[in-house]
Amino acid sequence: MTKFDYSTKNWWDFAYEASIEALKDASMSMGDIDAIVFTSISSAAGGEHQTHKVSLLSDIFKTNIPIIEIASVCGGGGVALWTALKMKGFKNVMVLAAEKFADNRSEVVTDWILSAAEKVYEQTEGMLFPTQNALIWQMYMEKYGATMDDLSLIAYKNHQNAALNPKAYFYKKPVEIEKIKNSPEVSFPLRLMDCSLSVNGGAAVIISSDKSDIEVVGSGFATDHILTFGRENITHFKATQMAAKIAYEDAGIKPENIDLAEIHDAFTSVELISYEDLGFAEMGKGADLIRSGEINRDGSLPINVSGGLKAKGHPISATGLAQVYEIVHQLRGDCAERQVRKHDIGLTHNIGGAGGSVTVHILKKI
Ligand code: COA
Repeated sequence: MTKFDYSTKNWWDFAYEASIEALKDASMSMGDIDAIVFTSISSAAGGEHQTHKVSLLSDIFKTNIPIIEIASVCGGGGVALWTALKMKGFKNVMVLAAEKFADNRSEVVTDWILSAAEKVYEQTEGMLFPTQNALIWQMYMEKYGATMDDLSLIAYKNHQNAALNPKAYFYKKPVEIEKIKNSPEVSFPLRLMDCSLSVNGGAAVIISSDKSDIEVVGSGFATDHILTFGRENITHFKATQMAAKIAYEDAGIKPENIDLAEIHDAFTSVELISYEDLGFAEMGKGADLIRSGEINRDGSLPINVSGGLKAKGHPISATGLAQVYEIVHQLRGDCAERQVRKHDIGLTHNIGGAGGSVTVHILKKI
């Protein structure tokens, strides 16, 4: 995984850097890789005017192996991983993501993200991504009585964690709770400090049929209507619930067996709602987990120890693989100051759009 920041390197530099680290970690060279599953949003959204990225990757890696590009907006990393796990007849598959994204003007970045929403009723009505999530959160607050203070605690936790993660944008830059509570409003009631941070970066994962120290024991993927307000239950994400169910069944475990999780906190509200969708809390009781401190780094179920999308940063497609990067290093016990106590089974949760495509993966130390 590269450092997540506003670096103005090219997307292929991020791809190269992340894959070299992954190859070293696996004691492999590019010649050992049989196929690559690549993901990015910027080709689909039109950035850089460079759509045939798989062929450019062939140049960079000096290889002629199959390279597939899969896009599923913010959920691209997880969907690429899910795809690689399903590929038969390949020994070593590299899953790769790279985004040069956040060095464009805010209006451009916001418009790229908006292109993931439904065109007629959402895009043309100006339903920017923070607005869509703010409306979901307004309904959740009304239904279940959670508060904005609960969300501030989530942002605070994730910023505290990122301050200990050298690859996070907010490394060594902790943010005080008052600054979070007083940050400017972006879309009522969500504030700047409730939003994920758009950054550039890349991440890579190698899936091997050879025995490794970490195994993917559960893999679930589900999709849902693109139009958020056309869903039966607007306050929760059915695709998360379905992907999680598949992953838990696949792994033969229950939510209470998970030691730590990286959750898709595109907004602090999405993190809270996901505690419930993933089975860590009962419906409407997600706020209890943050109020009790259970999900802090030293709690019984640490969540987003990497700093999450909020404070590590969110380079769209690279996020799902960066989550795997964190869990693998936590399971191995080599996360220094931010290492969690119990680290045998970890979960990653990656969402595309406002819940339209979701993957859940469960990783176990062997
Ligand atoms: N949290 C904390 N700080 C943030 C931030 C965030 N979410 N977003 C921007 N900043 C900081 C920047 O680092 C910068 O700080 P600096 O002046 O110290 O360098 C400052 O705020 C201004 O940055 P800028 O990029 O101009 O902010 P912006 O107003 O364009 O963007 C948002 C703010 C909230 C609109 C943007 O972060 C956003 O859209 N986030 C959500 C992204 C999203 O929806 N992703 C898809 C989710 S699946």
